[in-house]
Amino acid sequence: MMAPVIENSGRRSNSALFAIPYSLPMIVTIDGPAGTGKSTTARQLATRLGFDYLDTGAMYRAVAAECLSRGIDPAEIAPVGELAQSLVITFDEGRTFADGKDVTGELRTAETTQAASLIAQNPDVRRALIDAQRLIADEHNIVCEGRDQGTVAFPHAECKFFLTADPEVRACRRQQELAAQGTHVPLATLLAEQTARDERDANRQIAPLRPADDAQVIDTTNCDINEVVTRLESIVRTRST
Ligand code: DC
Repeated sequence: MMAPVIENSGRRSNSALFAIPYSLPMIVTIDGPAGTGKSTTARQLATRLGFDYLDTGAMYRAVAAECLSRGIDPAEIAPVGELAQSLVITFDEGRTFADGKDVTGELRTAETTQAASLIAQNPDVRRALIDAQRLIADEHNIVCEGRDQGTVAFPHAECKFFLTADPEVRACRRQQELAAQGTHVPLATLLAEQTARDERDANRQIAPLRPADDAQVIDTTNCDINEVVTRLESIVRTRST
């Protein structure tokens, strides 16, 4: 079985003022549902620490986008699993590439979001993408963000966080994000979609969304992202000394 090749070029930040002098590659995991500020927190934390940042949701989305563009039914287990194993997913300068093609613009469409949630239940896809995530983390200090990073992909990670927030606040944040892109969606619609996705993530048989036993659970409902990042940064720095 051929493992997928994932290259992560140009994501290491050289600009961090206080990069951690940590001798071994260190793994920080941030899991949690959508709308908890996970992506922004993970990206900013990585920059502050001088670590690489890995958005594992983008990997699931890249496989989903490729299914759609190649006419593969996302519900089909075997062909989607084969695609995930052979697809070369790369990241560069905040953009995502699938077999060299820039798919960044397709990752956040409603169709891709729906398909990504479906393919995330496919055990072959999860196996392929987790193998790839471990390959990346083998060589880099990294902040990984997703749903199963602390529980399945990196059970031995040095620092694990699980972000939560009130469901209405999460849906409001999504509504504001969409409004900033010129799309207006009623809060009730977003809340219903979010609840359905949460249930699918939490109840799937393989790698369900839950905090690792040794994860620190951080409620971001009433926090500004900067505060959250500062809090996480201080915990990581304490762990690394
Ligand atoms: O974080 P996100 O919304 O970009 O994730 C896209 C989809 O992939 C979502 O349905 C959850 C799923 N996912 C997952 O199952 N495991 C991960 N490590 C990351 C994302």
